Amino acid sequence: MAYPFSEALAGLTGTATRDIFRLLSRPEIISFAGGLPANDCLPVAAVAEITAELLADGAEARRILQYGTTEGYPGLRELLAPLLADAGITGLGPDNLLIVSGGGQGLDLMCKAFLNAHDAVLVEDPAFLGFLDTARAYNGRNIGVRAEADGIDLDDLEAKIKRYAPKLLYCVPTFSNPSGKTWPAEKRKAVARLAAEYGVMVIEDDPYARLRFAGTPVPSIKSFDEAGRVVYISSFSKTVSPGLRVGFAAGDAEVIRKLAIGKQGADLHTPNLSMAIVKRYLEKQYFYPNIEKSLPVYRERKNAMVDALDRYWPEEFRRTDPDGGLFIWGEFPPHVDTAALFPEAIARNAAYIIGSVFFAEGADGQKRGSNTLRLNYSNETPERIERGIKVLGELFREKLASSP
Ligand SMILES: Cc1ncc(COP(=O)(O)O)c(C=O)c1O
Repeated sequence: MAYPFSEALAGLTGTATRDIFRLLSRPEIISFAGGLPANDCLPVAAVAEITAELLADGAEARRILQYGTTEGYPGLRELLAPLLADAGITGLGPDNLLIVSGGGQGLDLMCKAFLNAHDAVLVEDPAFLGFLDTARAYNGRNIGVRAEADGIDLDDLEAKIKRYAPKLLYCVPTFSNPSGKTWPAEKRKAVARLAAEYGVMVIEDDPYARLRFAGTPVPSIKSFDEAGRVVYISSFSKTVSPGLRVGFAAGDAEVIRKLAIGKQGADLHTPNLSMAIVKRYLEKQYFYPNIEKSLPVYRERKNAMVDALDRYWPEEFRRTDPDGGLFIWGEFPPHVDTAALFPEAIARNAAYIIGSVFFAEGADGQKRGSNTLRLNYSNETPERIERGIKVLGELFREKLASSP
């Protein structure tokens, strides 16, 4: 049908990945393509207990089933202080916080609040596909900033700030999706300083920092922000449950007010039942113990993947080795086209995500990253990880042996 759809949504990459996910629901496929927290770590019993308690209390149940306020369920924002302190963020009050329907909504609201058509948006290359598509949906112009082994290249960042006068810089500085990289503290401090100097708003997207199974935590960019230029966004998707759709944005009160106005038009407020469950979950001190219980599962799966990659993949393959989060990023020599090999991988019952979808178009209009891929280790058992990585290793070895 010739529906008069907007230009902004034409050709968003997310549509293509959704088609891939339909394909991947076949149980015989060992999938490293997703980005879900480990199914075995979801706190089913705790959420069942809390939900029953909440609904058995008449006054609470009526509050949940009634309309609520855009800013969040009463008392929930006040309980976020320990989570913010984990990221080195202190001194924020309820006016600095907005509960959002998943971190993804926080990203959407930032674009809604700041972008006019064709405004430049800087992203660390490669970047979270969900954000690239959201910025595109607001007619923003994504421009990639080079990355080094330890995150964004500060020289390229400053050069591109001067050249493009961007409204926004988007980054995932801890256990990045897709790269698994974590920036050191000095880099974060420098980004906060550049944001203040040039008046760029930074979206610090931080869904993974609390899924750390090795190494020591690094303070957030927001913790170095004295100019009110950084909005810190995180969520309970990877630490409690993505299905509840509860996240939060932390920033200057004026910015948070603007985001709340944007949220009113989107969904009025995050569902009360989800927020009340998260609130009670925090009150009952279930949050940190459940993460502690989950971390060995993530550590074991990451190690299984790294071991199998080292054993079965060609030595030309370069990869990251994250201390947390969900992803390993890899790169082959330039002539290996991971998109062209994808159908053969599926035919052999193993899947990855092609890396090129995570790159901004670039000022030169060139598509990049055709020799890259993202691997997720959180949702397969160590045995299936080894089997799937072996199958893919055979495919890539054949390819490398048969081409220059
Ligand atoms: C980097 C990043 N940001 C944001 C999100 C959105 O998460 P949610 O909306 O479930 O909080 C994801 C989800 O995978 C992500 O990887």
